[in-house]
Amino acid sequence: MNKTPAARPAPFRTRLTDLFGIAHPILGGGLMWLSRPRYVAALVNAGCMGFLTPRSFDTPSSFGEALRHCAELTEGRPFGVNLTLSNRAGANDHVQAWLDLALARGVRYFETAGQAPGELIGRIHAGGGVVVHKASSLRHALSAERDGADAVALVGMEEGGHPGRNELPSMLLAAVALEHVRVPLVIGGGIGHGRQLAALLALGADGALIGSRFLVCDEIEAHAAYKQHLLACDEHATVAVLRSLGNTWRVLRNATAERVAALERDGARDYAAFGELLDSRVARDHCYRDGDWQQGMVSLGPSIAFARRTEPLRDIVATLLADARQCLDNLSHVTRVRTQP
Ligand SMILES: Cc1cc2nc3c(=O)[nH]c(=O)nc-3n(C[C@H](O)[C@H](O)[C@H](O)COP(=O)(O)O)c2cc1C
Repeated sequence: MNKTPAARPAPFRTRLTDLFGIAHPILGGGLMWLSRPRYVAALVNAGCMGFLTPRSFDTPSSFGEALRHCAELTEGRPFGVNLTLSNRAGANDHVQAWLDLALARGVRYFETAGQAPGELIGRIHAGGGVVVHKASSLRHALSAERDGADAVALVGMEEGGHPGRNELPSMLLAAVALEHVRVPLVIGGGIGHGRQLAALLALGADGALIGSRFLVCDEIEAHAAYKQHLLACDEHATVAVLRSLGNTWRVLRNATAERVAALERDGARDYAAFGELLDSRVARDHCYRDGDWQQGMVSLGPSIAFARRTEPLRDIVATLLADARQCLDNLSHVTRVRTQP
């Protein structure tokens, strides 16, 4: 992996684009079951950074095969790997092996997530890697910064997936965090339009982290019926459940999510009480593979409302960048008018 990213105009250069060697200040956050080689390579080839999710692969050798395939699709351009730490007993047993495999294959960019990443950040650095740690609270972001994270991504409660205990929206988190965070700061959660990218850059953030908005791209390997349903979603199509367990999960509002919400309302307070409803393999098999979007906990955030059509990822990125540029151009127009006597 010794090629540099393809030459493209770089309209927004930030500390993030310099750190990751990318053309655009956009990270595609790791997506369980869906961050497969075609999608990650599409992000990289569009000038962003993407991260394979090793937990999505059954065996080390299938993850190894994904690393090989991704390198082939990016023609050697650097791509990343997501290492999500879990609180569940035994769930981090393979993290070191995934890291070793990724480093051995030349991967240098890592997105970490989950609590207490200090040791992992140290090991990534020892292997010559660069880390953006994703956190859902300023406290955890600052702690990761102290642990040596090269950049932090702070995600608001709008985030599809696991915003944890955080109840604050990304816009407010961004403004607060900019007072405190010293390393490059990326903001995620609910970002799906160029206007929001422009707003983040105007605030002083170094980039955006996006998940949900990209789910309808051609390179996401999921059933067409699920993608068609996503296109019909508005900003009310998601629901945050399991807040009472201190581990909020924002998902598509479907039959499974309604059942989980009902059990929670009725007092269920430990994972066992939900039985297999929370098993994300149900989403993998029934929703992503078979298109039955009513089944499974299907991580999703409200920025899906911005998705109008399925299209190649590079077109979604191009639209985001063009809208952000237009938005900032309009802003300078407003500034000029205001400053005229
Ligand atoms: C389908 C889906 C799966 C996700 N899986 C993971 C994961 O395995 N690890 C992780 O760190 N974040 C995961 N996330 C969170 C994303 O990486 C990212 O932080 C989030 O999508 C950003 O918020 P947005 O969805 O509002 O754009 C997932 C999100 C979605 C929508």
